[in-house]
Amino acid sequence: MKWIVMTAVFAALTGVACAGVNDQMEFRNKKGTVFFSHKKHEKLAYMDCGVCHENEVGAIRTFGKAYAHRVCIGCHQPEAGKMEGPITCEGCHQTS
Ligand code: HEC
Ligand code: HEC
Ligand code: HEC
Repeated sequence: MKWIVMTAVFAALTGVACAGVNDQMEFRNKKGTVFFSHKKHEKLAYMDCGVCHENEVGAIRTFGKAYAHRVCIGCHQPEAGKMEGPITCEGCHQTS
């Protein structure tokens, strides 16, 4: 029993619990498809799932333009000494 708990804790800490999550996600919408690497972003958020999963881990009920432009672009904003991600429309929305 103890062993099972230990394994679960280890899986949670290492992100192994996420193995079932589709890494390469594609969000198709009228502005152009957004390609999103979930695994890469787990690391970029230092495994803090709550950065994007504000309420619960799993499908994001409020996912859409307002959510994405707040949460995603919010973290991509360049800040001294920090990594930055795409903030231009074409940086995320691909049309070709
Ligand atoms: C940088 C943002 C971000 C981070 C950090 C993040 N996720 Fe996600 N996650 C998403 C997005 C976006 C979706 C797709 C949401 C949707 O379609 O409703 C998603 C979907 C999921 C799903 C649903 C399964 C699927 O394939 O659709 C699970 C489970 C999940 N994430 C678990 C996690 C866990 C556990 C962590 C922390 C280790 C984590 N996520 C960290 C953005 C993130
Ligand atoms: C914890 C901060 C953070 C959050 C939250 C975040 N990103 Fe990023 N993202 C980054 C960083 C940093 C990079 C640049 C990574 C690199 O250059 O290797 C990046 C890169 C990207 C890229 C460029 C392709 C790639 O994989 O490098 C896309 C597209 C992207 N993010 C989409 C999203 C979307 C969509 C969301 C919201 C669901 C999101 N990001 C949320 C930090 C974040
Ligand atoms: C960090 C990545 C990112 C950047 C930068 C970004 N978007 Fe988005 N945008 C998204 C995501 C993710 C969604 C939600 C996609 C979905 O629901 O399919 C979205 C949704 C949208 C939608 C809604 C599309 C629909 O069919 O409902 C529009 C319109 C849009 N974005 C326009 C823009 C414009 C214009 C810019 C530049 C000023 C921009 N976006 C910059 C990631 C981004």
